[in-house]
Amino acid sequence: MNFEEGLDRVGTDSAKWDFVEEYYGKEDVLPMWVADSDWKTSEAIIEALKRRVEHGAFGYSKPGEEHDKAVVEWIEKRYDWKIDPEWIVYTNSMTSSLSVCVRTFTDMGDSVVLQPPVYHPFFSVVENNGARVANNELLYDKKENEYTMDFEDLKEKFEKKDSLIERGYRTSMMILCSPHNPVGRVWTDDELERLADLALENDILVVSDEIFSDYIFEGSHTPFSSLSKELEQNSITMLTPAKSFNIAGLNIGLAIIPNSKLRRRFQNSREKLIKKGNILGLTALKAAYTQGESWLEAQLDYLEENKDFAVEFVKKEIPKVEAVEPEGTFLLWMDFKDLGLGPKELNDLILEEAEVALIEGSTFSSGGEGFMRLNLGCPRSTLKEGLERIKDAVEGY
Ligand SMILES: Cc1ncc(COP(=O)(O)O)c(C=O)c1O
Repeated sequence: MNFEEGLDRVGTDSAKWDFVEEYYGKEDVLPMWVADSDWKTSEAIIEALKRRVEHGAFGYSKPGEEHDKAVVEWIEKRYDWKIDPEWIVYTNSMTSSLSVCVRTFTDMGDSVVLQPPVYHPFFSVVENNGARVANNELLYDKKENEYTMDFEDLKEKFEKKDSLIERGYRTSMMILCSPHNPVGRVWTDDELERLADLALENDILVVSDEIFSDYIFEGSHTPFSSLSKELEQNSITMLTPAKSFNIAGLNIGLAIIPNSKLRRRFQNSREKLIKKGNILGLTALKAAYTQGESWLEAQLDYLEENKDFAVEFVKKEIPKVEAVEPEGTFLLWMDFKDLGLGPKELNDLILEEAEVALIEGSTFSSGGEGFMRLNLGCPRSTLKEGLERIKDAVEGY
């Protein structure tokens, strides 16, 4: 568990390290963009994968009772939600599962509510599958250094269903990001319950992307569907060990769908569109959920120290910039607005002067302008190097 030591990932087909030049058009920049981490996963997972690879046969595979048991026990232990193994649908990723949801549960031209600034592929997930985005922008209170949901606007977006239905328009779905990438909020039960009430009143299917569910620094994670029995029947919760254990490249995801009709419809589309994941992903999932908890806890401790270090560094050393302290995820959302730069100028400053690859805020759509997202999943020495480069660039500007 040597997070401090890190890992040289160059030449391993790493999107973050080997494709940074292709994405940013510049060589030799420090990559702090893609949300994966620069260290090995848990030894238990590596050993399980080694054994599976040594076996040598990689034919068709199918998750069995042991996988179900591992998932059920993890969800109960970590999030206090008792699920029935029947509710589990295995998939090959979160984004493709979200696409399946939009295709399956919306009609052409329906609106799907998103809460920008938010994980940008959500927009193509909606738009490439025949629906339209309705933005319910998050509210940012700079003084309190905090993001909240705009419930008044959300109500309007949900109710649009009634006013426009004669013209064939309606809002039928919302994709919730919980914990939220990039702003780092861990939604409280009160917030989730308010959202749930509005969704139930207006017959909106909430699909909750909970890919960061195991990265919680403050509070605890509540799976959206777990809030009530009624909600269980009217929502879909997506979980995965992919981020938690730094195994996103193994393409494994879970859709938890208690409602049997919704589940059957999702499964039918999944068969046509995306399949169930792959044998190495399933092997890793079982090892992660049965033997990975202590590694996960150690990783969380390290990340929390990284988070504290970065927030403190920005406060003391780069006072013109404000770090929004994350309650969860391993992402740092930084407010550069006081520099008064447009998206291109801000990108140039960070890329050309600091030579660090971050994700520019407007990528996450409205409300993201003037911000940058930095990945904390790296050794502290790398984090320090990145922050020092940013400090020098901001000072020099
Ligand atoms: C909120 C969120 N959802 C989904 C994904 C991607 O998940 P997958 O690789 O399983 O499609 C990411 C990756 O960073 C993410 O941040």
